[in-house]
Amino acid sequence: MSSDLERLLARAREVGRASYAPYSGFHVGAALEADDGTVFAACNVENASLGLTICAERAALSAAVSEGKTRFRRLALVTNGNQAIPPCGACRQALAEFEADLPIVSEAGADRRTWRLGELLPFHFVLARPGGATGSREAGSEDD
Ligand code: THU
Repeated sequence: MSSDLERLLARAREVGRASYAPYSGFHVGAALEADDGTVFAACNVENASLGLTICAERAALSAAVSEGKTRFRRLALVTNGNQAIPPCGACRQALAEFEADLPIVSEAGADRRTWRLGELLPFHFVLARPGGATGSREAGSEDD
């Protein structure tokens, strides 16, 4: 396990301490590393209107895109559960918009697991627009 990865996990652990999760008690920290090494970290933010809850991964992704970063190296997740979790389905789709095979490492206590996004969501939704263009950027496309 590289020390870079340990640093990324440490950042996810740290930001997870700010998690606002009074309803589930499930605290999530996400650290998303852009291809230039910049790290964007965020926690989950729950709401009394439960459906308004924002997942840590999508919060981190929004922060990154807002700073002009759309290519990513990996995602670190740290939760306070007893089993390392993969991102939820909605977050998988959101991440796949930018990096369909993103490496993911997730930690919960002593449990650590790794996946590639492509194995968690092998067929992400891509919008086929009239005229043939797609909204998402895939490897080898002109937008790269
Ligand atoms: N949660 C995340 O932040 N990311 C996920 O991938 C799964 C779920 C949050 C949402 C909610 O605040 C809590 O975990 C329980 O679902």
